[in-house]
Amino acid sequence: MNIVAIVGSISKNSYNRKIVEFMQERYKGKIDIEILSIEELPMYNEDIELSPPSVVKEIKAKIKSSDGILIATPEFNHSIPGVLKNALDWFSRVEYVMIDKPSMIIGASQGGFGTIRAQTNLRQILNSGAIRTLNLPGNEVFISNVQDKVDEKGVLIDESTIRQLDKVIDNFIEWINRVK
Ligand SMILES: Cc1cc2nc3c(=O)[nH]c(=O)nc-3n(C[C@H](O)[C@H](O)[C@H](O)COP(=O)(O)O)c2cc1C
Repeated sequence: MNIVAIVGSISKNSYNRKIVEFMQERYKGKIDIEILSIEELPMYNEDIELSPPSVVKEIKAKIKSSDGILIATPEFNHSIPGVLKNALDWFSRVEYVMIDKPSMIIGASQGGFGTIRAQTNLRQILNSGAIRTLNLPGNEVFISNVQDKVDEKGVLIDESTIRQLDKVIDNFIEWINRVK
């Protein structure tokens, strides 16, 4: 099963990215996860949407041929980061590659609420007419105080978070098989 991941942080030291990398390793054999290079996307502009840079087409083609989408989002100022919104705006135009794609959300923050507000906001965006992914219901993964749940290399070591991810990934695979 071929899953594409959109990480809403383009920082080299992103905790969200590290968690997706952890998932790539841990669920190898069950699913393949490819992280999309959303940092290469230009700012969305309607003036160029019909003849966009090739990277836009390449990333959209990967989404189109995937079995599902994993979105890992930080929370910036009680919402999703601009880089993530920019990517979703690109993916919602011209060719509607998100529509009816199974999706799931996780999020990690250094605060105590673990991206609750960002994920609420993201679920609303995923419901919009030109995106409308088939988002996995329930299965909320809010990783709060993430800095205390990883080792010195940023690898996730928190057992209860790992157990939750194991369960949610199984639920996501079942969801993909159910809706496809
Ligand atoms: C511009 C900005 C706004 C932030 N706003 C929030 C916020 O609203 N809630 C929160 O829990 N953390 C907030 N944070 C802290 C992030 O949770 C923290 O930087 C996190 O590590 C970002 O994710 P990343 O490591 O994947 O890049 C903010 C950080 C930045 C840089």
